[in-house]
Amino acid sequence: MMEKIIFALPGNEKLTENLSRLTGYITGSLVIRHFPDNESYVRVVSDVSGKEAILICTLHKPDDKLLPLFFLCRALKTSGAKKITLVAPYLAYMRQDKKFKPGEAVTSEYFAQFVSSFVDELITIDPHLHRRHSMSEIYSIPCRVLHSSKLISDHIRTKIKNPVLIGPDSESEQWVSEIAQRISAPFVIFKKKRLGDETVHITLPQFEKYKNKTPVLVDDIISTAKTMIETIKHLKAIGMTSPLSIGVHGVFAGHAYKDLKDAGSLEVITCNTVIHESNRINIAGIIAESI
Ligand code: R5P
Repeated sequence: MMEKIIFALPGNEKLTENLSRLTGYITGSLVIRHFPDNESYVRVVSDVSGKEAILICTLHKPDDKLLPLFFLCRALKTSGAKKITLVAPYLAYMRQDKKFKPGEAVTSEYFAQFVSSFVDELITIDPHLHRRHSMSEIYSIPCRVLHSSKLISDHIRTKIKNPVLIGPDSESEQWVSEIAQRISAPFVIFKKKRLGDETVHITLPQFEKYKNKTPVLVDDIISTAKTMIETIKHLKAIGMTSPLSIGVHGVFAGHAYKDLKDAGSLEVITCNTVIHESNRINIAGIIAESI
């Protein structure tokens, strides 16, 4: 079997240490820094000859990460690495999956084509598959999709009494229904219309019968948090108790985290696919199993 070596891209050191401990794979050494003019310097220090290099690089705020990642992959291959596996717990550029206006870039496709050109395999967690149903529709390399639903279910089961799960939009049904089934809890899917980057309109279906339950909002990504904030407003208006807000990926643009807490979330909980103070659910175990 090919020897494996794990590398942490900047910001991913803690998860990489965890993975190295769980798998027994050695953590490789590399240098990624900026020259004074802000161009990137990349150097592979460890011996990678004949090995599989596993790169841990979550991809929120992706634009600054992509070029160093590309340079690193090229350097690894020229240093003799046989295979490059990218572990991106959060995978960026999955949401613009369609041309809504003439001339728009369908960035999910272009990003996938670019990554596929320098990585041999991709492992990610709950990517935002909406109009695309599988990664192979846009990625030309093998992709392994891991799911956080069991971990989220375990968290809800042990910490939250009498929950009703709420998905704020139709896309969320895939996660919410699975989690609800695992913990035998009811779930309701709301309707969302996005009117702009920071404006969404949420409609509630009949909800009266769940009035005595603890509402738990579940979504894949929390970005501006407007989706969850609008949902919370509706729940408050019908007299529900404060909800818990669970996101797989807490991307939290600007002051979104504070806004979400101020809007009345009892607690905001995320997986550590993006490092954040709201991380309560550890995905290291499922990644370790997959690598
Ligand atoms: C998109 O439909 C996703 O599933 C999330 O609902 C969305 O990304 C949340 O975005 P925001 O936090 O900006 O409302």
